[in-house]
Amino acid sequence: MSNMVWNGCDVVELASRFGTPLYVMSENEIRSRMRRLKDCMAKGNDNTQVLYAGKAFLTMAMCRMVQSEGLGLDVVSPGELHTALKAGFPAERIYFHGNNKTEEDLAMALDCGVGRYVVDSEDEMVLLGEMARSRGKVASVLFRLAPGVSGDTHRYIQTAHTDCKFGMPLLGQGLRRCVSAAMADSGLDLLGFHFHVGSQLMENRAYLEALEVLGDLMVTLRDEVGFEVRELNVGGGIGISHGQGPEVDVEAYLGGILERAKGVCEARSLALPRLVIEPGRWIVGPAGVTLYSVGTVKEIPGIRTYVSVDGGMADNPRPSLYGAVYRCELANRMDEEADSVVTVAGRCCESGDILIKDVSLPKPKRNDIIAVMDTGAYNFSMASGYNRLRRPAVVLIKDGQARCIVQRQSFDDLVQGEVIPEDLV
Ligand SMILES: Cc1ncc(COP(=O)(O)O)c(C=O)c1O
Repeated sequence: MSNMVWNGCDVVELASRFGTPLYVMSENEIRSRMRRLKDCMAKGNDNTQVLYAGKAFLTMAMCRMVQSEGLGLDVVSPGELHTALKAGFPAERIYFHGNNKTEEDLAMALDCGVGRYVVDSEDEMVLLGEMARSRGKVASVLFRLAPGVSGDTHRYIQTAHTDCKFGMPLLGQGLRRCVSAAMADSGLDLLGFHFHVGSQLMENRAYLEALEVLGDLMVTLRDEVGFEVRELNVGGGIGISHGQGPEVDVEAYLGGILERAKGVCEARSLALPRLVIEPGRWIVGPAGVTLYSVGTVKEIPGIRTYVSVDGGMADNPRPSLYGAVYRCELANRMDEEADSVVTVAGRCCESGDILIKDVSLPKPKRNDIIAVMDTGAYNFSMASGYNRLRRPAVVLIKDGQARCIVQRQSFDDLVQGEVIPEDLV
């Protein structure tokens, strides 16, 4: 018998110590990925900034790592903002995103002094300007644009095509009107633009196309309304391979974006703005594994063997949401031959709750440990309470040591805040 060792830890031992399902995150991996991105961006350009997109995985411990590595933080909700502030993250390094920020959200952000507002619509721009002025503040703003390009990815995670709920469209005169209005608003300091072309992009083609579109727009706005872009945020989106081919060469990927941005500006005699990126998945995805215990193994003769585990779509909705493909290992029998093809099923009451279809493994049996790889992004953060499954714990490992950073929900946590009205029989 041999156990899987991942980032210096015996994961079977982690499963027995902390229970399953269990999210395991590697601090060494997260930090080294953040450093690599910073190095890529700093190379040849001293006016860049790397943000971490908190939607991929956000806890207070994560905020602390982002802070100590010198990155900024992208948040999209008051809950994410609260998490960051509670962890002591500096508000001025926070970018506040979202396509439907409420008045309450904006008030919270203005009161704590977030560094940037990524404004998604004219309506939001007007509201933010009024609210900032009434507080005697000036909000630093980027407009999120929909440059009309499509990344090569699942349509649910394409985010910059024209018919999209995100961003301001480039069609018509609306954007020009907004830029002029923002320039005239004493509550707003319009610094530039943001786009996010999509997620899980294995190549940078869509960014390069979007940069060309932006270049033309920047010329138009400079010539027609005298607006100079000082900051350009090209979003996140760097993909990870999930074992389906080579990993992205991130140095070449980002180098290409930096080079194109420079070329676009030089060709149009524009000053090169500060360049910002905000990846989430690439930083934390490969830095996480989820451990499950095997329960029922059901063989349907001639058809399929279902291996049910003690988690599923409640802790990882991505396979059922948009067919995301994961790989796994039988973590307590790494030395055995993968002599069977099985389907790893979750325990939720949905036929679609399948984590991995047709994977080769040594034939699993009850109490084996399955490690699903590369689950660090959009698993914990997208987890639901479906079927009243308790949210798993999260442990952070470093140099072979594990610390719990999120406790497993208790049964009492599940009913916390619930009330049975006194008149209810
Ligand atoms: C505006 C924005 N920025 C950054 C990200 C992070 O994307 P990824 O995790 O693919 O890097 C997203 C993801 O949806 C996003 O919408």
